[in-house]
Amino acid sequence: MADVRLTDIRKRFGSLEIIKGVDLSITTGEFVVFVGPSGCGKSTLLRMIAGLEDISSGELTIGGTVMNDVDPSKRGIAMVFQSYALYPHMTVRENMGFALKFAGMAKEEIERRVNDAARILELGPLMERKPKALSGGQRQRVAIGRAIVRNPDVFLFDEPLSNLDAELRVHMRVEIAKLHKALKSTIIYVTHDQVEAMTLADKIVVLRAGIVEQVGAPLDLYDDPNNTFVAGFIGSPRMNFLNARVISSEAGYITVALASQPDVKLSLSAQSSAAKPGDEVSLGVRPEHFRPAGQGDADLVLDVDVAEHLGNTSYVYANVSPDERIIVEHEGFRSADSRDRLTVGVSAGSSFLFDSAGVRIR
Ligand SMILES: Nc1ncnc2c1ncn2[C@@H]1O[C@H](COP(=O)(O)OP(=O)(O)OP(=O)(O)O)[C@@H](O)[C@H]1O
Ligand SMILES: [Mg+2]
Repeated sequence: MADVRLTDIRKRFGSLEIIKGVDLSITTGEFVVFVGPSGCGKSTLLRMIAGLEDISSGELTIGGTVMNDVDPSKRGIAMVFQSYALYPHMTVRENMGFALKFAGMAKEEIERRVNDAARILELGPLMERKPKALSGGQRQRVAIGRAIVRNPDVFLFDEPLSNLDAELRVHMRVEIAKLHKALKSTIIYVTHDQVEAMTLADKIVVLRAGIVEQVGAPLDLYDDPNNTFVAGFIGSPRMNFLNARVISSEAGYITVALASQPDVKLSLSAQSSAAKPGDEVSLGVRPEHFRPAGQGDADLVLDVDVAEHLGNTSYVYANVSPDERIIVEHEGFRSADSRDRLTVGVSAGSSFLFDSAGVRIR
């Protein structure tokens, strides 16, 4: 069993607390992705699980055993970094087998494991090459192979694809998904990439400044974010937040008027007790949820600043008022252009309400 459990995990560098009490439960075979802005503590948390950083307080268990003070080599984990750091003078085969040889494993067993990993990663024809004769994606596959041969209970990945170009990233993303299916191992994966997080994860952990903001399945976070931070972080382009004021709050509905376009009112289903008339709130609308005029519950009139047409869809950057700018994404706005006036529909059913502290009003 390789379930990983973090209980009130904290990390202090001197007097500075970087990880501020993380509780997390990861079950065997689960693919968990850590996301969050730069500096929020993703790598630090991963390195604490790996044993490359001390745990200041709290408890880490892997497979039920407390690991706080266990040597990294004895935790049953293998880590893959962004910089693959292969040994340049060794062949692919030697790179992959090195750690096992160093640990004194029998030659036949090393051979067997390296060949297995090579087959899974389709490295067969490259085994006798040196790293300098490999592409970036091939090198990254070797780095993953080096982790696989150790047969770990838990794989830790820290932005493994961020050195690769866009096309290779997509290719390797699919490879990693296949790898997880084949090995059924527990994976903890750090990324900045929205699409990697959404497509690979069974469970996404959204971190902000050393605190877990929300944990959930990718689509649950997209459909049901707890606050403006998670709502803005999951989904790309990010959710728009429009200033609004509560007009009335009754019988499961809250009606708001937009600050910028006060004649625009929208009634959203919500527990009415959470908001009072006059409250300042924000209305969250994802760019992809705007509709052509007349097809929502209310229409907004926008002044187009810039329109980007990608063929399959268009991104329209537009002002709702002189100081409120939003992004609208729709395949039907192909002819929108700078300085146009554009009317778009907003649907209550796909909009969100947040209070003035950014907490979701449900
Ligand atoms: N050894 C250290 N001493 C002091 N502060 C540190 C140390 N290592 C990391 N930090 C700080 O801890 C915070 C979290 O760093 P960490 O590398 O975990 O962030 P991250 O979420 O992985 O960011 P990125 O997305 O940029 O990789 C940062 O503010 C960083 O400056
Ligand atoms: Mg990092």
